[in-house]
Amino acid sequence: MKNLSKLILGIACCSSLLLSAEVYIGDTTKVPDLDMKNTKLSFKEIQGYQNYKIVASHFRKDKNEIRYILANPVAYNALKENKVIMPNGSKIVKIGWSVNDMATFPSALEANKIQRVEYMIKDSKKHKESDGWGYARFIKKDSQYKAWTGDIQSCVSCHAIVKSNDALFTKFQRMF
Ligand code: HEC
Repeated sequence: MKNLSKLILGIACCSSLLLSAEVYIGDTTKVPDLDMKNTKLSFKEIQGYQNYKIVASHFRKDKNEIRYILANPVAYNALKENKVIMPNGSKIVKIGWSVNDMATFPSALEANKIQRVEYMIKDSKKHKESDGWGYARFIKKDSQYKAWTGDIQSCVSCHAIVKSNDALFTKFQRMF
C-alpha cells in the first residue's frame, strides 16, 4: 500500500513536470513609459506583446527591414477565422529589425537591431476618425525608445490603400 501511494505520488510529480515544460515562461519585460504626443496612446497599451502570436512576416525592401506582425488573442482569433472586420480590443503589433549578412553564412540575412515597435489598436468609438484604429509608433535608436512625433494621419492615409480589408495589409500566414 505504501509503495502504491509512493508510485502514485511519483506519477503525479512527473506529469506535473512534463506539463510545466509545455508552458511558456511569461515575458515580464516592462515596456518603456512613453506616450504618443497627440493621441496619447502609450507603449504600455501593448505590455506583454512579446507573448502575442506571430501572424505574418514581411520584408520592406526600401527600408531593408524584416518585420514580424504579432496579434493579441482577440485579433489572432479573428484573423485565423478570416474575419475581415477586426473586433474592438484587437491589438496588432509590428516589430522591425534591421538585417545584416549572417557571419557564418553570408548569403543568409539575419535580424540585427530592433528599429521600431508599432501597433494598431481597434476601438471603433474612440478612434472613429481613423477608421476605428489607433496608431502608435516607437522608434529605437542608440538602445533607447522614443515616441514617434510625426502625424498619424500619414499612417491612416497609407493604410487606406487596404480600406476594404479593415485597413490591414497583413494576411494570416498559415504555418502548414
Ligand atoms: C506609406 C505607407 C505606410 C505608412 C505611412 C504606414 N504604414 Fe503601416 N504598413 C504599411 C505596409 C505596406 C504594411 C505591411 C508591410 C509591413 O509589415 O511593413 C504595414 C503594416 C503595418 C502594421 C501591421 C498590420 C498591417 O496592416 O499589416 C502595423 C501595426 C502598422 N503598419 C502600423 C503603422 C503605424 C502605427 C503607422 C504610422 C505611425 C504606419 N503603419 C504607417 C504601410 C504603411
